Amino acid sequence: MDKPVPKKNLARRAQAPPPHWRKEIESVLISKESLARRVRSLARQIERDFAKRDLVIIALLNGTVVFLADLLRRLSLPLRLDFIGVSSYGGRTESDQLVFTKELRLDVSGRDVLLVDDILDTGKTLSCVTAKLRRLGPRQIKICVLLDKPSRRVEQIAPDYIGFTIPNHFVVGYGLDYAERYRNLPFVGVLHPEIYQQPDFTSGKKASAPGH
Ligand code: IMP
Ligand code: MG
Repeated sequence: MDKPVPKKNLARRAQAPPPHWRKEIESVLISKESLARRVRSLARQIERDFAKRDLVIIALLNGTVVFLADLLRRLSLPLRLDFIGVSSYGGRTESDQLVFTKELRLDVSGRDVLLVDDILDTGKTLSCVTAKLRRLGPRQIKICVLLDKPSRRVEQIAPDYIGFTIPNHFVVGYGLDYAERYRNLPFVGVLHPEIYQQPDFTSGKKASAPGH
């Protein structure tokens, strides 16, 4: 029979990225199992809070796609879904100079909005989007983010649902990107700083450190 692996090693093994990602991903910050567990419990909370309400989920593109797809499948209550496309102009990681790449189509007036984003960092994106939404007269706007990085907050935003609060690392995976890559990782991982310090593979320019 195999010798039992000490718990300590199991935990360490679970934190190592799969071998083919090791050059780019420093460590696994949140495993796919933890993500699945947390999404289940967020969905339960949201179901309780929005029971019998006229719920409209508004997700921000593109970072929410994986999280949103998992969350939606766990929500068994009537809802409508729409998207807002928002992107930081020019920069690959900073959230200054927001441009809207897709506008909302659904009418949210008098309705209960759940705004979903991948990560709350400085808060500039969500404060801009909530101000825009408020002008459309919803009954209420609640905010759900998969990740919260409170250490870099500039705007006052208090999400109603937070998947995980994380330290000040640049993370990718489970929908989150760096220069549009890594969205397909099934876990949330910390990107090796060399990746954003090296000359940019898409433009040939030296990339800026992500939001730091
Ligand atoms: P904020 O406007 O500074 O709160 O930033 C929000 C947006 O910045 C997110 O929706 C992400 O697109 C991006 N962002 C911030 N931190 C990270 C990160 O660690 N990884 C990937 N994207 C991030
Ligand atoms: Mg985003």
